[in-house]
Amino acid sequence: MKDEGNNVYSVFDEIISREEKERFLNQNAKVVWMTGLSGSGKTTLAKFLERKLLENNFFSKLLDGDNVRAGLNAGLGFDDADRHENIRRIAEVSKLFLDGGIICINSFVSPTFEIREQAKIIIGEANFLEVYINTPIEECERRDVKGLYAKARAGQIPNFTGISSPFDAPFNPEIDIQTKDKSIEECGEELYEKLLPLIKIPS
Ligand code: ADX
Repeated sequence: MKDEGNNVYSVFDEIISREEKERFLNQNAKVVWMTGLSGSGKTTLAKFLERKLLENNFFSKLLDGDNVRAGLNAGLGFDDADRHENIRRIAEVSKLFLDGGIICINSFVSPTFEIREQAKIIIGEANFLEVYINTPIEECERRDVKGLYAKARAGQIPNFTGISSPFDAPFNPEIDIQTKDKSIEECGEELYEKLLPLIKIPS
């Protein structure tokens, strides 16, 4: 197929299908979209999940806010437009992994309904699993792993999520993980157990 506008030639009909790769990998590919405040435990749980999946013969790729912003999305900031562009690119990249049959674990603040809706539309509703890493802001601020809440309170970080920029808690997430007073292992196992039926091909 030729796109008259920009001379781009699609080869989608020639590459190996997602279904064939999913059969090879023995899994249903999904995008596990982890949303939550900074310091809520997204990255820690994403890493736990990645390891747990591998140990159980599932193949995944983890994309994380701090890492992606150091490379692909270097130069993007935290105003509304840049956060949209950040999430748009990540959603497009996730779709590529999905097309390769790979489970994509995404760990991004993705703070608003609108931003997550944009990601869901790009990725496709059936492929998009919204996971809320549900940690109250008081707890995130108490942990303050990166020292960012202290800086934000001191007015040194503009548009900081939860302080000077909004965070919309998901209405009806596929999976809701409440982390307060629980260990990483407990939360990680809970996440894995809830995810398993959605990625497993029945034998
Ligand atoms: S998102 O809102 O665009 O989805 P993303 O997940 O990529 O955010 O990046 C969030 C990470 O950037 C946080 O974990 C934190 O380390 C860092 N960060 C720096 N400035 C901000 C800010 N103003 N708001 C939120 N996170 C910030």
